[in-house]
Parts: sequence; structure tokens; C-alpha cells
Amino acid sequence: MLHAHITSWVLAIILFIIAFSLNKQGKQHGFKTVQRILRVFYLFIIITGAQLLFSINVNFTYIMKAVFGIVVIGFFEMILSRAVKKQPTGVFWGLLVVAFAIVVYLGYTLPMRAF
Ligand code: HEM
Repeated sequence: MLHAHITSWVLAIILFIIAFSLNKQGKQHGFKTVQRILRVFYLFIIITGAQLLFSINVNFTYIMKAVFGIVVIGFFEMILSRAVKKQPTGVFWGLLVVAFAIVVYLGYTLPMRAF
């Protein structure tokens, strides 16, 4: 399940970047398709993450890991929806990077290891 979790968020990042650049190029049809696939990957991330949570004795750090994981998904969505409306996204990119760094740090300091 850990591998499925990692594969899901790595692919989600790639899809997010593709969606962002398609929107920037004005390719709205492609953007909408990629955004739909991306949203399915959010579900994969949450389902695999929840299964990992249910497989262990959860403590506060795990809860923080899960909360920040959902926050990262929230920033993906906010950046894309603001980019579509041509609103500035700079602050949200900064917040995304910080939240992402926290999630990866927590993920790799918690005991399960895929690599
Ligand atoms: C984009 C969002 C997310 C990212 C980037 C992410 C990243 C990671 C990383 C890097 C690991 C460690 C992998 C390893 O040790 O090899 C991990 C493990 C885990 N993730 Fe996520 N995650 C995200 C979302 C979530 C969500 C939403 C949940 C809960 C619903 C969750 C629950 C977990 C759990 C329980 C583990 C196992 C922790 C451990 O190593 O002991 N994650 N995740």
C-alpha cells in the first residue's frame, strides 16, 4: 500500500504540472481532461493514505501527516482554480512548497519505509 500511495502522489504532481501548463497555453479542453484525471488521483492518495493509517497505531504525528497531505491537495486545487480565473497564484505556490516539504519530511521520518 505504501508503494501505491507514493505512486499516486508522484503521478498527481506530474498531472498537476501538466494541467497548470495546459491552462497557461490556453488549451482548456486538455486542461479539463487532465484536471479530471488529477481529481481521481486525489482519491487514490486519500484512500491509500487512509488504508495506511488504519493499518497502524495512529499517533499525533500521523494525524499531522494526513492533515498536511490533504492541505497539499487543497493547494493543488486552489492554484488551478485561481490560474483558470487568471488570478495571481504566487503565494499559493509558496504555501504549496512549504506544505509539501512538511508532508514529505513527516512521511519519511515516520517508521514505514518504501525505499
Ligand atoms: C499530496 C499529498 C501527500 C503526499 C505528498 C504524501 C507523501 C508521503 C510520503 C513521502 C510518505 C512516506 C513514504 C515512505 O516512507 O517510503 C507517506 C506515507 C504515508 N502517508 Fe502520505 N502523502 C500525502 C497524502 C496523504 C494523506 C491524505 C494521508 C491520509 C489520509 C496520508 C497518510 C500516510 C500514511 C499513514 C503514511 C505512512 C507513514 C509512515 O511512513 O509510517 N498521506 N506519504
